[in-house]
Amino acid sequence: MNELFIKPNLKSAQRRTKDETIIERSRFNIPDEYLSLGFNKKFYLRTYGCQANERDSETLRGMLAMMSYAEVNTPEEADLIIMNTCAIRKNAEDKVFGEIGHLKQLKYENPDLIFVVCGCMAQEEEVVNTILKTHQHIDIIFGTHNIHRFPELLIQAHFSKERVVEVYSKEGEVYENLPVNRVQKAKAWVNIIYGCDKFCTYCIVPYTRGKERSRLSEDILKEVVTLVEEGYQEVTLLGQNVNAYGKDLELDYGFAELLEDVAKTDIPRIRFMTSHPWDFSDKMVDIIAQYDNIMPFVHLPLQSGSNEILKIMGRRYTTDEYLHVFDALKTKVKNIAFSTDIIVGFPNESEEQFNDTLKMIEYCQFDNVYTFIYSPRHGTPASKMEDNIELEVKRSRLKRLNQRVSVYALQNNKKIVDSIQNVLVDGPSKKNPDVYSGYTETNKLVNFIPKKAKAGMIVKVKITGANTWTLKGEEV
Ligand code: SAH
Ligand code: SF4
Ligand code: F3S
Repeated sequence: MNELFIKPNLKSAQRRTKDETIIERSRFNIPDEYLSLGFNKKFYLRTYGCQANERDSETLRGMLAMMSYAEVNTPEEADLIIMNTCAIRKNAEDKVFGEIGHLKQLKYENPDLIFVVCGCMAQEEEVVNTILKTHQHIDIIFGTHNIHRFPELLIQAHFSKERVVEVYSKEGEVYENLPVNRVQKAKAWVNIIYGCDKFCTYCIVPYTRGKERSRLSEDILKEVVTLVEEGYQEVTLLGQNVNAYGKDLELDYGFAELLEDVAKTDIPRIRFMTSHPWDFSDKMVDIIAQYDNIMPFVHLPLQSGSNEILKIMGRRYTTDEYLHVFDALKTKVKNIAFSTDIIVGFPNESEEQFNDTLKMIEYCQFDNVYTFIYSPRHGTPASKMEDNIELEVKRSRLKRLNQRVSVYALQNNKKIVDSIQNVLVDGPSKKNPDVYSGYTETNKLVNFIPKKAKAGMIVKVKITGANTWTLKGEEV
């Protein structure tokens, strides 16, 4: 088979260059003759991983709509299957490989089916080699840096009936010209910075997403203003580390300034994800406190409560520095809620170091905690560290951690029973159409009895009951 090949390369993904980021603004073009490529055809798109991937999938949807494809909810109905993948932990990858194997049968039943793997796993040399060797039914592999090339690759695979592999290992331009088909009508993801330069020693993201590249503030603000005009109620500003926004632009305009400018638009709700504690300035705290449309909720990943482990993780803050940010937010932002990420079982984590994490949990009493067992990622410094901790020990720590976490989650939820909360309505709940669901300003999920509520409205809900991860209420 004459395969078209640009494979990923770990060495170049690890490298950082001083190259200036080019902003691509030319009109995004698909040749006229291909605008009906998907006429009468259907695609199934499955997204794994974080919001960066969710947002990328919305770009893919935009492109597919341009080419007349219609979306379906099951792979069995589809002429085109796309898996937008995540590489963050081994179990994320196992899920994708499981699904790839599971869907193989569909390709035998319909040889014209086009099967695509993209996203963060496609950036990994090892993964691509495995797919090439053992999964002949995958027709197209492309990565996070060349999503703009998707229509071209699809056209090539469609007409050549050959396998198309194109993954760039070095990040490309910032693309301002790509189409988008947003899934939700009231809440929008807005990228503000791509990539990550933090290189936490356990993490694969700096290799799969490239170096930090900020969008220009005028482009971001224009997007938000358009979303307001379209009736959107909430934007979530996205980046692996939003607090690093603007550093690469050297304009003396950072996340605090951007957040303030976004707050001055008429968007009712602003969220942001994710904040690295290291870059969280006092000015950012003040801006969050100052504007009512910046939601009082911060996801502030701690990872570990042990300074020794934080150091080996390369997180570049101590627990005291973390608490400086945490306490400042807690004091200045009325009714703020927090979530965090914790990794247990980092190589050689001792019982004492794990207990230090529990102590931080006791102090911070987070509203939500995403907890993970450390997963070695190929090419990262931590994956080369010898690890003397048994998986059983790690599992038991995870369990103990989760128990503490749910105590505080429930306690925090109980505190707001009887209060009235502003809730952005998602719509009728899946299980019971008489019950609606939505999110409070503090990002808590509420199931409530509606009166006038419709999807996309912000309504007042009296909280009548609290579970660990959800609230119950009635619209007032
Ligand atoms: N940029 C974000 C994190 C994105 S990844 C930040 O720095 O906060 C989301 C979470 O996955 C991380 O916060 C971390 O807790 C977890 N994670 C990342 N790599 C991991 C690994 N190798 N094993 C286990 N968990 C990991
Ligand atoms: Fe990964 Fe650290 Fe970057 Fe977050 S800040 S994406 S954990 S390297
Ligand atoms: Fe996963 Fe890539 Fe996001 S590895 S967490 S999808 S940046």
